[in-house]
Amino acid sequence: MKLWAGRFSKEADKKTNDFNSSIATDSRMYAQDIEGSIAHVTMLSAKGIIPEQDGAAIAAELAKIKNEIAEGSLLIDPNAEDIHTFIEQTLTERIGDAGKRLHTGRSRNDQVALDVRLYLRDECDAVTELIKKLIKALSEKGDEYADAIMPGYTHLQRAQPITFKAHLSAYTEMLTRDLGRVADAKKRMNSSPLGSGALAGTTYPIDRAMTASLLGFDSYTASTLDGVSDRDFCIELASALSIIMVHLSRLCEEIILWCSWEFKFVELDDAFSTGSSIMPQKKNPDIAELVRGKSGRVFGDLMTLLTVMKGLPLAYNKDMQEDKDAIFDAFDTVKICLDTLVPMISTMKAIPENMRKAAAGGFINATDCADYLVSKGLPFRDAYKATGELVALCIREGKTLETLSVDEYKQVCELFDGGVYEAIKLENCVKRRGM
Ligand code: ARG
Repeated sequence: MKLWAGRFSKEADKKTNDFNSSIATDSRMYAQDIEGSIAHVTMLSAKGIIPEQDGAAIAAELAKIKNEIAEGSLLIDPNAEDIHTFIEQTLTERIGDAGKRLHTGRSRNDQVALDVRLYLRDECDAVTELIKKLIKALSEKGDEYADAIMPGYTHLQRAQPITFKAHLSAYTEMLTRDLGRVADAKKRMNSSPLGSGALAGTTYPIDRAMTASLLGFDSYTASTLDGVSDRDFCIELASALSIIMVHLSRLCEEIILWCSWEFKFVELDDAFSTGSSIMPQKKNPDIAELVRGKSGRVFGDLMTLLTVMKGLPLAYNKDMQEDKDAIFDAFDTVKICLDTLVPMISTMKAIPENMRKAAAGGFINATDCADYLVSKGLPFRDAYKATGELVALCIREGKTLETLSVDEYKQVCELFDGGVYEAIKLENCVKRRGM
């Protein structure tokens, strides 16, 4: 039986029913739906809008329903229209007329807007915890190999020497910004839409501040039309989640490169790698590749939300039911990626000898060689040119800046002396830059 059965003379067509239903997606919000209803009913009875004993009966039965769903003794009917309907109907079946008073002064439109906010608030906390774990894993990994020197790259060409720790710190900084973005979106979302009704509030003397505070909101939404039709918070969060996936995909791309025999800067633990069905020698960084690939899903979710909301007239439209699949998928994906990456990073071994070997090639101390001439009084542009000539000489003769003689240095620029060797030592280059 539909909530709206009175106006209709026929049951919904089976296909219509299935198409219209969102129970498969919104069941996961059952706890938030019940918490919202308990706050609503507490307010209704406090304000004398429904009899106190009905309020108490509703709240007690809702709490029971929540426990039963949690422990699996009450199964959610997959044919129900949505979770709101299922819970209200179950309540009314159990306590009769009192249950029918729950929806006084409320609409599913403000109810669903509330449930999603409550649900996403917890999801923000879960993602925040996981990001913090990844930050910790990355900084511990950096500390474990605090002395490892590797080439820093621009254009994927060896550029200047850095430490592995400095490289990983770039990611902890990105992830710290991600924490800020999630916290910021969560704060803006933390305003209660309950009391917005279908779109134009209600004629009952409800207390919106009371329900907002019972549910831990900082405020309640000022415009009732906006309260039911705003999904900015989903878009903001999907956008913050997309940026997280950009960061994870960059980290994973580097790990994939570093695992290749061309680099071999790191070795993933066997527990976080996979083999090939045909090539016995293979050990593949599938986890990192999958995280890189899953970034596509999350960007898709963001695009879904933007497209669903674009051009929608006020206030609630059924289009908005599509919001949950997208934002839930984005959170699920980011959480599983973070959760898998943390142990993969913690167990990853670095190979500092290979990093050092790579750092020794490619003239990555050429800038420091030029800086040495600058310290002797030469203008930087001239120092740059002289060092460029030295690099060309090395390439011609199969040498490195370390193996050139002082005479060879002097042939290019008189200002060189034996001090140049200390100046271009990779350890010193890294130290001088505080890398
Ligand atoms: N399942 C709906 C959703 O997710 C709940 C709101 C339904 N409201 C309505 N007027 N049909 O958006």
